[in-house]
Amino acid sequence: MDLAGKTAVVTGAARGIGRDIAERMARAGAAVAMLDLVEDTVVQSAGEVAKGGAKTRGYRCDVSSFDDAVAVGERIVADFERVDVLVNNAGITRDKLFLRMTPEDWAQVIAVNLTGAFNVTKALAPAMLKQRGGSIINIASVVGLMGNAGQANYAASKAGLIGLTKSLAKEFAPRNVRVNAIAPGFIRTAMTDALSEEVQNQMKQAIPLARFGEPSDVAGVVMFLASDLAGYVTGQVINCDGGLITAR
Ligand code: NAI
Repeated sequence: MDLAGKTAVVTGAARGIGRDIAERMARAGAAVAMLDLVEDTVVQSAGEVAKGGAKTRGYRCDVSSFDDAVAVGERIVADFERVDVLVNNAGITRDKLFLRMTPEDWAQVIAVNLTGAFNVTKALAPAMLKQRGGSIINIASVVGLMGNAGQANYAASKAGLIGLTKSLAKEFAPRNVRVNAIAPGFIRTAMTDALSEEVQNQMKQAIPLARFGEPSDVAGVVMFLASDLAGYVTGQVINCDGGLITAR
């Protein structure tokens, strides 16, 4: 997969899936702007990703702040001169059953997962539209398609992200800017590692491929959507869930 000459922007890139996406893009030759909440951490991650030889830079940005997104967007365009790929990956959970969920739990999750993608896309889409080419990839979740008890806020934010994806795909298509979403299932992270073996085995039984996904599984789909191989793919939601949804 060759991304030489392209600039990619990844939010929530200091760790987890976002970090893996940034690394994979850098290995494929892209210059990568990495955004996250804490300056030191994201600058350190960007330094580690740069060890493979790629141009990278870390930026402190709270995606839920429109002002932050616009300011960082201007710096990225000045530093990299172009933007070819935007991965809206930053996301949080504040899981609670609905009756216990506070207005703050609701508002925080919507602010980061949904408004965050709006803010960063507002900041960077103009550069892509001007270039007449680009790929925006929103990291949603199977929960946005299926719903999940205890995650009404998260499911609503991810379903909203899918609506945003499909609408922007239609608006941006005349300028050759593609917009797609990925819906990961259970991805192996510190969170899934912390579950008991029994619960992990139960969860795996619901997954046809009989394993949790790895961050690299999600990064693989991002690479496809970012590349010219996906040049005729827009407005789609690609599940990356080991067959979980098909199985239901
Ligand atoms: P993570 O918690 O390991 O990493 C998320 C990153 O986003 C962190 O570096 C965090 O600092 C950053 N972040 C949080 N709020 C931010 C904000 N306001 N501004 C900027 N950065 C912020 O999470 P993980 O597992 O890597 O998830 C990444 C994405 O994948 C999220 O959107 C998540 O909803 C989605 N996802 C994850 C699944 C999983 O099983 N891990 C399954 C389905 C979707």
